Amino acid sequence: MSVEEALAAARAQIEEYRGRIRSLDDNSRDLMFREARNHNLWQDREVSDDQLREAYELARMGPTSANTQPMRIAFVRSKEAKERLNTHVNGPNQEKTFAAPVTAIVSYDNTFFTDFPRFNPIRPEMADRFSGNAEMAESFSRIQAILQGGYFIMALRAVGLDAGAMGGFNNKAVDEEFFAGTPVKSIFLCNIGYGDVSGIKGPRLYRYAFDEVCDVL
Ligand SMILES: Cc1cc2nc3c(=O)[nH]c(=O)nc-3n(C[C@H](O)[C@H](O)[C@H](O)COP(=O)(O)O)c2cc1C
Repeated sequence: MSVEEALAAARAQIEEYRGRIRSLDDNSRDLMFREARNHNLWQDREVSDDQLREAYELARMGPTSANTQPMRIAFVRSKEAKERLNTHVNGPNQEKTFAAPVTAIVSYDNTFFTDFPRFNPIRPEMADRFSGNAEMAESFSRIQAILQGGYFIMALRAVGLDAGAMGGFNNKAVDEEFFAGTPVKSIFLCNIGYGDVSGIKGPRLYRYAFDEVCDVL
């Protein structure tokens, strides 16, 4: 396929899906946003590797700057790996982490730029901006991976799973435990499973209204 043909096909694909759907219906909005909660306790129901893959397949489509995709995820499932993880998790988060079928360590790779020719073959020279500037590579990749982590939480909801994100753990210790000798560093943990509503301790906390935090200029 020529470059022109590939571009025409990509544009046709956008028109095609727009013909099928233009927005989420009310149920989908509830599932993804309005009624979804951050979960603390977990039903005794398994989550398969296929379900994790299904969620990642959606999450990976969320946009990142220059398509860099620096997020990396370690899915902690085995009892042995959970024990290793829990040593570095804050007390109140330990029980949640043990009970969850899977805990994702949502992380980033600050050497992401070495793969520019693959994820952005149109602008491979952009890698030079990062290869000589470790500080920029670090902050850029962390920010982009945090974005991807948000997409990942929403993707879990989209495939019918619940998420319980946690920042209460020792990042440095987790990095040494799981990523020693690699450029990967943790951002947040995310328990994954089917939430047990008895772990919800109160009604939804206040969310800012548009007029409080948004300006239209
Ligand atoms: C990145 C991130 C880190 C969080 N860390 C923790 C945590 O360490 N412990 C905890 O109990 N809840 C944690 N939470 C849950 C939030 O407190 C919760 O999402 C928020 O209060 C809104 O709850 P709701 O989504 O159920 O309305 C975290 C959430 C996110 C997104």
